[in-house]
Amino acid sequence: MNAFTKTYNTYRALVDQRLHSIVRKAEPASLYEPMKYILSSSGKRIRPILIMLSCKAAGGTAKEALHAATAIEIMHNFTLVHDDIMDHAESRRGKPTVHTKWDENVAILVGDELIAYAYRELLKTESKAISRIADVFTDGVVEVCEGQAYDKEFETVKDITIDDYLLMISKKTGKLFAVSAEIGALIGGATERETRALRSYGNFLGRAFQIQDDLLDITADEKEFGKKIGGDILEGKKTFLLLRAAERAAGKDKKLIENILRKKKISCATIPAVKEIYERYGILELARNAVDRDIRQANIQLEKLRAGTAAEMLYKFSHWVLNRNF
Ligand code: IPE
Ligand code: IPE
Ligand code: MG
Ligand code: MG
Ligand code: MG
Repeated sequence: MNAFTKTYNTYRALVDQRLHSIVRKAEPASLYEPMKYILSSSGKRIRPILIMLSCKAAGGTAKEALHAATAIEIMHNFTLVHDDIMDHAESRRGKPTVHTKWDENVAILVGDELIAYAYRELLKTESKAISRIADVFTDGVVEVCEGQAYDKEFETVKDITIDDYLLMISKKTGKLFAVSAEIGALIGGATERETRALRSYGNFLGRAFQIQDDLLDITADEKEFGKKIGGDILEGKKTFLLLRAAERAAGKDKKLIENILRKKKISCATIPAVKEIYERYGILELARNAVDRDIRQANIQLEKLRAGTAAEMLYKFSHWVLNRNF
């Protein structure tokens, strides 16, 4: 096992342990059963691991960052539970989503309670910078909501540009990565320059992560990915792939893409047809290049950190994110 995998597994186990034991109540069952269900389902724990790695890179220890790491994962889970209602998604992490296993009211309330749990956990952090950390965390949640609002608005707007898209994903996904890296930096006692570099690293990494997620929506293996393949097409999402295909496709290919842009005439049969267009016009390649570019930008930020094994781990973390297939 290489050094990165070892660190990843160790940090992940720490976060999982905390997440699994955090819900101590059983009643009302309609609240606490789905709470335990979502917090014990197997996420990649990317954001908490980013907090812990950033904290170390700034001179702190991973353990000091554990409460904040757990908090960001709980907050992330809140966004997922509500995102799945908004996206009509039936599976996540290889299991039924909360609103399909229970119902939408349950999922709304579970989301609400997760926000409360996230703050309770965050505020256990022992740091001189706790007030700033809480501000950064709150700004993060606000921006994720803005990003999610754009994501939904864009479904019914035909002429969305790549710049609109990049703003939307910076908010819905990039921001929580940026917040994770920044909070890790603050707990670890980073200098302002290091804090800025880590925040920027998180933002680029998060953007790459979302473009990769758009790509995996069509290329991944459903079992490994744990989410339904082609969900973005069914929902008429303005993904990186769809926007680039709209620029390149011609003739009847263009007609098909235009239908999705207008959220019209979409069925399950549309998914393989769109995949074939993406392949034929080199769209998958374009997405991979965009991910690569953002990962390189992210890594450039790491040059501003003090050298050492912790900074090295962040390079490896970028590499891991880039090569994931789930
Ligand atoms: C899913 O996030 C939502 C996106 C921002 C694409 P993850 O892919 O980190 O989900 P889990 O936590 O590992 O399931
Ligand atoms: C999710 O984007 C972003 C947030 C949850 C804030 P997606 O809608 O693409 O995420 P998945 O694919 O459902 O995980
Ligand atoms: Mg969504
Ligand atoms: Mg979704
Ligand atoms: Mg997605």
